[in-house]
Amino acid sequence: MFEFQPSETQEMMREGARQYADRILAPRATALDHEGGFPEDSLRQAADLGLLGINVPEAYGGVEAGAVSYALSVMELARTCAATTVAMTVSNMVAEVICAFGTEAQRESHVTRLCSGEYVVGGFALSEAGAGSDPSRMLTKATRTDKGWSITGNKLWITSGTHAGLFIVWARTSDAPGARGLSAFLVPGDAPGLVRGKPEEKMGQHGSTTTALELHEVEVGEDGLLGEEGEGFRIAMMALDGGRIGIASLASGVARGAHEFALDYAQERTQFGAPIMTYQAIQWMLADNATELDAMELMTLNAAWLKDQGKPFTREASMAKLFASERGFDICDRSLQVLGGYGYTREYPVERALRDIRVTSIYEGTSQIQRIVISRDIARRFGGRS
Ligand code: CAA
Repeated sequence: MFEFQPSETQEMMREGARQYADRILAPRATALDHEGGFPEDSLRQAADLGLLGINVPEAYGGVEAGAVSYALSVMELARTCAATTVAMTVSNMVAEVICAFGTEAQRESHVTRLCSGEYVVGGFALSEAGAGSDPSRMLTKATRTDKGWSITGNKLWITSGTHAGLFIVWARTSDAPGARGLSAFLVPGDAPGLVRGKPEEKMGQHGSTTTALELHEVEVGEDGLLGEEGEGFRIAMMALDGGRIGIASLASGVARGAHEFALDYAQERTQFGAPIMTYQAIQWMLADNATELDAMELMTLNAAWLKDQGKPFTREASMAKLFASERGFDICDRSLQVLGGYGYTREYPVERALRDIRVTSIYEGTSQIQRIVISRDIARRFGGRS
């Protein structure tokens, strides 16, 4: 482990998340993966511990522990169960973005209910079938009515789509081209006209439901507009900057879980008359794992620290997500290799980790999108810090 010294609060949050993960998530993680479903009960217990509002002001029901605490907590949770963790990270992202852009009334009404678990979790409805990496091309429309807005369209790839009690829904509110014509809305999960799709059958993260959402003339009052009209794209991008710290933390946690399992196994498993840990072939795989793990955790904490300082962190969050998701996949793969044939079976959690981590280089912006964000930032800062 690198020489990062957490503050008392950060250590307390990390320890709390670890205890919750060991006590609540660990005994349920294998069954959740095999049987699917949605970890509603685990999420309610997470809410009781403040894990749905880690970086949210106390005034709105959060614990106000900062972005570094958030990253450390997510790492601990994902070590055990990525599926439950992703529902928490998206919900935290939704709560934080309402705090950042919402009115006082929206914060009091919605953020408190997200933090307390009354909404179960929050959902982030940006993507559409034809607008994934390029959300500026979305077709969902919101038109003005005498009472507010009417939203019609179809969303896709919505995390927690089956259970989220509140969605931020992005829609086009003017004919302005691309990103300029978008606005964000707060839509309760029980709004008439909102239809939740069936969960997608996925490679991993089986306990996290991913669905389509249909919106048929969903009525939203004036108080449902989040931020200014036309500000939706910027809101989405700023939310995703923070979200990417969450996914980098999640990927780091999954990778650390797989590595620690492989490390224990290598010390116990005997071949050719000695524990396999005594062979250089195994030592090198575990050394590469340990090196990359330290690097991804440090990059993630750096992005989170910048966020806590109120400094720009877009590029650092993208770098952390890119590195943690891609190298994290390699770590899970090497860990599986250390276990040999056992690693390929469902009896051991490493094959789950390999399946679970794969999506981290896809959701909240693919690796290719992160490289676009990073390269644009490098070009912008050319001549200064590169
Ligand atoms: N912060 C603030 N503003 C930003 C910003 C940021 N990080 N990034 C862009 N903007 C602003 C720009 O300054 C620009 O503003 P002006 O028009 O006033 O100049 C405006 O937004 C448009 O920016 P770009 O020209 O850079 O936009 P673009 O169309 O070229 O797209 C992109 C940029 C980075 C590729 C962006 O489209 C992107 O991030 N795509 C990926 C989307 C994504 O991550 N989707 C994930 C879905 S959500 C999900 O997965 C959640 C889940 O449930 C797990």
